[in-house]
Amino acid sequence: MPAQERVGIGVVGGGLMGRELAAAIGRWAALSDHPVRPVLTAVCDLDPEVLAWFDRVETVRLRTADHRELLADDGVDVVYLAVPHHLHERLYLDTVAAGKDFLGEKPFGIDLPAARRIVAAVEASTVFARCSSEMPFFPGAQQVVAALGDGAVGRVIEADASFLHSSDLDVGKPINWKRQAATCGRIGVMGDLGMHVAHVPLRLGWRPERVYAVLQDLVVQRPDGRGGTAPCDTWDNATLHTWVSDGRGPFPLTLQTKRIAPGEMNTWRLRVLGMDGGLEFSTAAPKTVRRFAVRDGRQVWEHAQTGSQSVFPTITGGIFEFGFADAILQMWAAYLAERAGALGDRFGCATPREALASHELFDAALRSAASGRAEPL
Ligand SMILES: NC(=O)c1ccc[n+]([C@@H]2O[C@H](COP(=O)([O-])OP(=O)(O)OC[C@H]3O[C@@H](n4cnc5c(N)ncnc54)[C@H](O)[C@@H]3O)[C@@H](O)[C@H]2O)c1
Repeated sequence: MPAQERVGIGVVGGGLMGRELAAAIGRWAALSDHPVRPVLTAVCDLDPEVLAWFDRVETVRLRTADHRELLADDGVDVVYLAVPHHLHERLYLDTVAAGKDFLGEKPFGIDLPAARRIVAAVEASTVFARCSSEMPFFPGAQQVVAALGDGAVGRVIEADASFLHSSDLDVGKPINWKRQAATCGRIGVMGDLGMHVAHVPLRLGWRPERVYAVLQDLVVQRPDGRGGTAPCDTWDNATLHTWVSDGRGPFPLTLQTKRIAPGEMNTWRLRVLGMDGGLEFSTAAPKTVRRFAVRDGRQVWEHAQTGSQSVFPTITGGIFEFGFADAILQMWAAYLAERAGALGDRFGCATPREALASHELFDAALRSAASGRAEPL
């Protein structure tokens, strides 16, 4: 194998997702043949306990509460920005100004104006930036994307992309930054889960021109963790009805993002029905892709086993199971390969333009919820 290029990584925001990246880098050797070797060198977080967690990563030599110190560090080539949404604009713009490449967490700005300013700054620079969205790297999702590219379903009748959670069924769950508009954004659940459902449709060229949105705020206050309550003023559930076209004709695309979908723990699903066949992948059954066909006059849904292999080959046995942590590894493999000019025709991370397109959709969804009508993007 040719020598791997060493790339120093700095994490800003070492919470849930910052630690997932640390763990993914620890498993990098699982990739059979990758041009880059990431090394986690620096971490920034305001919380001393979070910084202390990174003591277990031997290569981390800078721990700081000031992201400007991390951005000025010569040992950091790429920054992972994984902070609450109200901080995206300031930190992403500071990262561009520092000339550092970055993978920014979704939604890439708290709202459409912030996303516009971030994307404009990225495009006016030479910085290589992408937006986080790992679920399409599940092998089953990749197999659906490939089959759609081969025209497997023929003329599309309808498509549905969903990301469904249910832990908010528990009304005793304390408030956090993701459930308040000031820190999560007025788009609420769409900011949390929307990029995940928009990534594949946008990559397939399915661009909504109008949206009719059904938004629900089911839980309006939550325990504040200090014996009182706090307002929970974000949309819990969002169903976006849109029309798109793939060149063979228009069809309805429904995008669902829900925090309160009973029975669904972390279900990402893509279902496309066409005149010649159907395809469905759901992380609720991560080992199978369902395919619809009419055979000998009979309507058949069949289950095809996906195996473990995704975009970048791994040493993992082909028959073994794939999971969330593998999707994070694959997303980072795609980011660093593309940065190195070695992605080829493989599936890449969501682009800043795709993140902006998702914000245009969510912004129109807010207008639709207010007007009660379908709204143009
Ligand atoms: N890709 C995914 O599957 C996925 C999943 C969850 C969250 N996210 C996204 O990741 C981002 C972070 O979410 P999370 O769940 O990791 O949140 P989190 O609350 O677990 O972690 C955020 C961290 O940022 C730190 N922080 C706050 N202000 C900071 C500052 N000024 N400088 C440095 N650190 C600061 C906090 O102390 C905290 O440790 C959000 O954009 C969220 O939408 C993505």
